[in-house]
Amino acid sequence: MEQIRSIRSLREQLVSVRRSGKKIALVPTMGNLHEGHLSLVKQVQKCADYVVVSIFVNPTQFVEGEDFGNYPRTLESDLIKLENLNVDLVFMPDGNEIYPEGNNVIAEVTVSELESIYCGEFRPGHFKGVATVVTKLFNIVQPDLAIFGKKDYQQLLVIRSLVENLNLPIEIMGSATMREEDGLAMSSRNQYLTESERQQAPILYKCISEMASAIKNGESDYEKLEKAAVSSLKKAGFKPEYLSICDSETLKVAKNQKIVIIAAAWLGKARLIDNIVV
Ligand code: PAJ
Repeated sequence: MEQIRSIRSLREQLVSVRRSGKKIALVPTMGNLHEGHLSLVKQVQKCADYVVVSIFVNPTQFVEGEDFGNYPRTLESDLIKLENLNVDLVFMPDGNEIYPEGNNVIAEVTVSELESIYCGEFRPGHFKGVATVVTKLFNIVQPDLAIFGKKDYQQLLVIRSLVENLNLPIEIMGSATMREEDGLAMSSRNQYLTESERQQAPILYKCISEMASAIKNGESDYEKLEKAAVSSLKKAGFKPEYLSICDSETLKVAKNQKIVIIAAAWLGKARLIDNIVV
């Protein structure tokens, strides 16, 4: 497994790979890898000949006061996991390599409507940071294919939108959410939960699953469902930011059959997000 930190060496390495006609896939991550991340690698390996995983804790997607400094960094064990999966190349640049201009932003990528709602409303600037770093990674690696988790549903839509609207010749795959046995979506931030919060945490998924069942069974009063779910989350100790039944392609008001239920809620120091496509 190649381990590369500079853009220049990465490009040199990929010249011959591309020349040999191999299909290159990129799996962008911020490290601290769990089974959710590894499932993306396994899935993309079925469709590509050469898999690049990037590990970069991207400062620009953390909003002021968030956990950039404390975000778990576990490079050594991440590399062992990727080596065991026979990943071809790990790209692990430092901050200066990706942002040589430092805080002095010169060019960035925005995805207008999607970036100011839901997670974008509560984390202003977050999706601009995501869209910018993912565009940079796309331009650095120039993959044929890239894969993202449906766990971060709005992020996946942001990336699909930027690829479509900026005409990037990259196929985007979405991958199912990996969960703990009790239903909690795997996330690096689950480590912030205390033992008792960890017991409560699966209630978020339970709540949206029950809403999905109700909708499938014909319930059409979405506002009632949303209000009831928010109130049961609060009772269970969560601080919900949003919980909404919306259109699965635009995240606007749900009008037809294409529905996703998206939710974000704080439980202690952990901000949990989850979603379910109905
Ligand atoms: P990170 O949170 O490390 O996630 C990397 C990828 O793993 C994302 O596509 C995310 O959706 C996916 N993922 C996380 N938890 C998952 C789970 N339980 N099941 C399936 N997939 C899961 O998302 C980011 O990093 C960053 O925003 C990034 C795209 C790398 C840009 O910096």
